Amino acid sequence: MSELEHLDELMSCRLDVGRKAVMPCSVVIFGASGDLTARKLIPALYHLFLDKQMPASFRIIGFARREKTDESWRAELREALGQFSRTKPVDDDAWGKFAANIHYCRGDMTETAAYEKLRGQLDGFGDPALRNNLLFYLATQPSQFGEVAEQLHQAGLLEKEPKQGWQRIVVEKPFGHDAASALALNNELTRFAHEQQVFRIDHYLGKETVQNILMFRFSNSIFERLWNRESVDHIQITVSEKNSVGGRGGYYEEAGALRDMVQNHLLQVLSLVAMEPPVSLEAEAIRDEKVKLLKSIRTLDAAEVAKNVVRGQYFAGVMDGKPQGGYRQEPKVQPDSNVETYAALKLFIDNWRWSGVPFYLRTGKCLPLSASEVRVQFRPTPHVLFAAACGPKLDPNALTLRLQPNEGIYLRFNGKVPGTAVGVRPVRMHFSYDSEFGAYTPEAYERLLLEAIAGDATLFIRRDEVETAWQIVDSIRAGWNGRPLSNREFYAAGTWGPIAGEELLAQSGHVWRDPQPLK
Ligand SMILES: NC(=O)c1ccc[n+]([C@@H]2O[C@H](COP(=O)([O-])OP(=O)(O)OC[C@H]3O[C@@H](n4cnc5c(N)ncnc54)[C@H](OP(=O)(O)O)[C@@H]3O)[C@@H](O)[C@H]2O)c1
Repeated sequence: MSELEHLDELMSCRLDVGRKAVMPCSVVIFGASGDLTARKLIPALYHLFLDKQMPASFRIIGFARREKTDESWRAELREALGQFSRTKPVDDDAWGKFAANIHYCRGDMTETAAYEKLRGQLDGFGDPALRNNLLFYLATQPSQFGEVAEQLHQAGLLEKEPKQGWQRIVVEKPFGHDAASALALNNELTRFAHEQQVFRIDHYLGKETVQNILMFRFSNSIFERLWNRESVDHIQITVSEKNSVGGRGGYYEEAGALRDMVQNHLLQVLSLVAMEPPVSLEAEAIRDEKVKLLKSIRTLDAAEVAKNVVRGQYFAGVMDGKPQGGYRQEPKVQPDSNVETYAALKLFIDNWRWSGVPFYLRTGKCLPLSASEVRVQFRPTPHVLFAAACGPKLDPNALTLRLQPNEGIYLRFNGKVPGTAVGVRPVRMHFSYDSEFGAYTPEAYERLLLEAIAGDATLFIRRDEVETAWQIVDSIRAGWNGRPLSNREFYAAGTWGPIAGEELLAQSGHVWRDPQPLK
């Protein structure tokens, strides 16, 4: 058998064979006239339909206050799809078939009558599965989650023990703004639904590359045996954003980088990178390990926050050759705001595997490149042979998981420079998703919606996960205690962050390895 035939044979090793079939159902979207619905949810459902992954029979009902008919909403969604679909041009024949399943329910979430109307609309569907299997997607403000859940319950549409079919709620981020509010939100939701019926979104978990972290770690013995304090010097996780706060100043003033990005995306990636192997691939087994990992992160007191966490805020600079104003000049931002647009953390995980290994996390806006990556920096070689001669010029081995864009994995190691002289320099071994699998890049929301319809919660955040992540963030915020930003915490837009961020790593002789614009 050739190597290629063998590879093809191995590719038939699918792990989702036991996956639950997707049952006919209705998806009700609260916030139907909003940005998320037009930009992400409807394009994702349409692509699932194109890929024949939607149930054999389904309906989508959009719920919002604005006056619309089924036809006018379909027309608006078709127009938005032209802009936001990942495949272009849109296939109008396929859209027509898909759109025939879309309906609109005008109503106010705060009014009981609106839920009766919704119920009437669902009752009108002939197939009992479309009336009884219900996915409620709450693309609304978190302050509305509790009310919607209660109203759905009063209308008999959300029961902890439904007599027929299933009922689930999907909720968007932000899930609370601190541990207390997340706990309150969880309590509100679980008055009317079991935890197993609540699907909390972190769209990072829908990304192929993020899901690949577990595949990569636990299906490759060559890497997993290096994945510990014996071999790893430190790990860097960077989620950088090129865009400024722009029109989201009002939201950002309440959130900041720590709550907007670290509490969810960065801590999720960290937990996948560092968790112990789960006992199975069941949702609860994986989520148990993620929670254990989050609970092993060393809590920081105020003195440790001052030493191990850096905030930053961009001032005016240059991005792609164009002037970019500072954060304090953005619309709806206070001219003396101390909200962080950058955060860098040095965390320790107090367990057997990672004792003493620093994990550096950073995120920020107006950085030179939008990219997310995990860099595992291995320990340097002993000081004999090349290391003695080359000193710090001998690059330690590093493995980079590039989560986006240019998704892939690359390994840096040293090789001899060809020629008669004896020279060593770093070289790179590169796996690219595009070259290996072609340009098939489903949107995160496609996978997440499919899993929610199938009832698999693996890629959603469990109650204890979200609460533990908030406790970590709360302890950092308590350490900041409203202290104003110092000069060392400002950075020019278009640079990789404040000096204090560099100093954070320099304390331990480390340096940030900035993501590169890979080809
Ligand atoms: N947009 C994104 O890319 C994105 C990404 C991640 C998370 N999220 C989260 O997703 C949620 C929705 O975001 P969005 O950007 O789509 O918000 P948005 O554009 O402001 O839309 C809000 C929606 O809620 C509806 N709504 C508000 N109050 C209502 C009421 N009393 N009764 C019925 N409908 C009501 C609005 O419709 P009417 O005005 O017609 O009633 C509108 O459809 C937010 O929690 C946001 O944080 C959004």
